[in-house]
Amino acid sequence: MSYERPMIPFNRPTRVPEELELVSQVLSGQSPGGHFNRECDSFFRDRLGVSYSTLTPSCTHALEMAALALDIRPGDEVIVPSFTFTSTANAFLLRGARLIFADISPSTLNIDPDSLGRLISPRTRAIVVLHYAGIACDMDAIMDIAGGAGIPVVEDAAHALFGAYKGQPLGTIGAMGAFSFQNTKNFSCDEGGAFVTNDARLAEIAEIVREKGTNRSQFMRGLLHKYEWVSEGSSYILADVLAAQLLAQLGRAEEIQDKRKRIFERYQEGLADWASAQCVRQPTIPNGCDPAWHLYYLIMPSEEVRDRFLSYLRSHQVASAFHYIPLHITPMGRRLGGQVGDAPVTEQMAASLVRLPFYTDLSESDQERVIDVVRSFEVG
Ligand SMILES: Cc1ncc(COP(=O)(O)O)c(C=O)c1O
Repeated sequence: MSYERPMIPFNRPTRVPEELELVSQVLSGQSPGGHFNRECDSFFRDRLGVSYSTLTPSCTHALEMAALALDIRPGDEVIVPSFTFTSTANAFLLRGARLIFADISPSTLNIDPDSLGRLISPRTRAIVVLHYAGIACDMDAIMDIAGGAGIPVVEDAAHALFGAYKGQPLGTIGAMGAFSFQNTKNFSCDEGGAFVTNDARLAEIAEIVREKGTNRSQFMRGLLHKYEWVSEGSSYILADVLAAQLLAQLGRAEEIQDKRKRIFERYQEGLADWASAQCVRQPTIPNGCDPAWHLYYLIMPSEEVRDRFLSYLRSHQVASAFHYIPLHITPMGRRLGGQVGDAPVTEQMAASLVRLPFYTDLSESDQERVIDVVRSFEVG
């Protein structure tokens, strides 16, 4: 009898048993309108120590809110890493910004603070950073440079919920932070996000922007006797049924993060001697960084080895992935003027990176199987 072991998936959404109960409270009409949104907002205010938090339909929308709150206009320049997801850039491009693509540091794959000085111009209106894999950027250096030039920093914290830099939660160090609860993230309601800030003026604008450009939020708090159109806006409100699902997972935040930490550490330990013998690089965690344990990656010695490794994993029933295609050399990036060589570290890292299966309920035995398969690969 032939027997083939099932493919170990690359990702599975986090699920907890309480979700069904909380979701059913919304569907059965037992919970007051917006109740779970308010609960999640209050959870994030407490846990992240921010004065304002609001759920959004996605991290993409939270980044769009940030661009609107900063009143980005055509011709303004916004610095973004090239090594990121499209949303980090699109949110600002949609407002007419000129994108300036920054390179990354090879050790963390985060925006390289040394490159920022050269990219800042009198037209720079924002610097957007991504905490790749939930491991913090060099925020002291970034905030020094940005602060010195009076430029707000937006944190794309899609990977970074519950990560910290020198004790401060990621997403709360710059002017605004954006989180993702899309289905590959640590906490997931299939599609969702959050926008946070400690700046009262930005919070006031965000509150209007998310309510279709009206002052409805103030009206709902009893501060006005009617609400009306007061500025540009859109609809950035998450359905309460999704907020209920998210709240159920947030109730188990420690348990979920502990499981993910163990998975990350098992990869680090289980692959350490193989990686050093094969000249493969594992993630580094700089001093002062508490990771959010979002994903696990390896940097292979070359693109040729990376492609061979991806096929090897697939042929051994282990799903894997690579990302990001550097934004400046995508079809859209090239239309914006990007060229090969503009961000050499990004180009090299993106061509060498492999992500291994990583999800909250990855079993120890499946992970051992992944580790065994990886260890049997020879770079050659
Ligand atoms: C770095 C980064 N920013 C933004 C996003 C967009 O998140 P969402 O799907 O919640 O809009 C993603 C999605 O994976 C991402 O990886």
